[in-house]
Amino acid sequence: MEIIIQPNADSVCRYAARQIAELVKRKPDAVLGLATGSSPVRLYAELIRLHREEGLDFQRVTTFNLDEYVGLPPSHLSSYRHFMRVNLFDHLNLDPARTFVPPGLVAGEEIKEACEKYEEEIRLAGGIDLQILGIGSDGHIGFNEPSSSLASRTRIKTLTQRTRQDNAAFFKTAGEVPHHVITMGIGTIMEAKRILLLAFGESKAQAVSGCVEGPIGASLPASILQMHPRAAVLLDEGAAQNLRRREYYRWVFAHKPSGQA
Ligand code: F6R
Repeated sequence: MEIIIQPNADSVCRYAARQIAELVKRKPDAVLGLATGSSPVRLYAELIRLHREEGLDFQRVTTFNLDEYVGLPPSHLSSYRHFMRVNLFDHLNLDPARTFVPPGLVAGEEIKEACEKYEEEIRLAGGIDLQILGIGSDGHIGFNEPSSSLASRTRIKTLTQRTRQDNAAFFKTAGEVPHHVITMGIGTIMEAKRILLLAFGESKAQAVSGCVEGPIGASLPASILQMHPRAAVLLDEGAAQNLRRREYYRWVFAHKPSGQA
């Protein structure tokens, strides 16, 4: 696991955008896994800048989002499809047919089928080359809340009260936050070839220390990233403040041998 601590969220997002830009230049039909929420917003703004000012070409790129609220149509202002359109999709030259977000408008028997279809779409695209993640204050990735199976696949999950509160800012009232989501599973996320997790601010410090330095377990789902061969955790100072070995991580990054992936 690589731990990269930067002075602020802007420099983290510029770093993450550079990683994506290098991938897309090397592999124009790259498959990106994307997150919503506040953490990736500045990363998406930087990708838009790279597209506009430096001609970074997304025409052949495919994207898969981690999750969507059950019950919200794509047009709903708080749906993740809408979030992605406003914050990224509408500003790049992506082919809309290759921007996948789990379906929110599914119920009953359809749910299992829709989740299997999403997994199949990821397989048919050749798997995810680079997955962007945020982390919940309770350590979730995607919406795999504590106690989620570490081998789980795309499925319906129930949000914790804490996550619903954390996400209330994206809704008119806290009561409107849906209870259920469709989310990629932890097993699905772990199959991405490379993972970049972004975390900013003191409110994430506890979850980040559990993810990086705690034991691996379903009580803190992000801790499974310790088992991934190419996962990087990208932090600002606030999110890194509880890490016991943070000076070591800084030294390692500053002295990274050339050629090390
Ligand atoms: C969003 C997602 C979640 C968020 C996490 C952090 O697609 O899967 O895991 O990344 O809840 O959210 P923010 O970035 O809003 O703190």
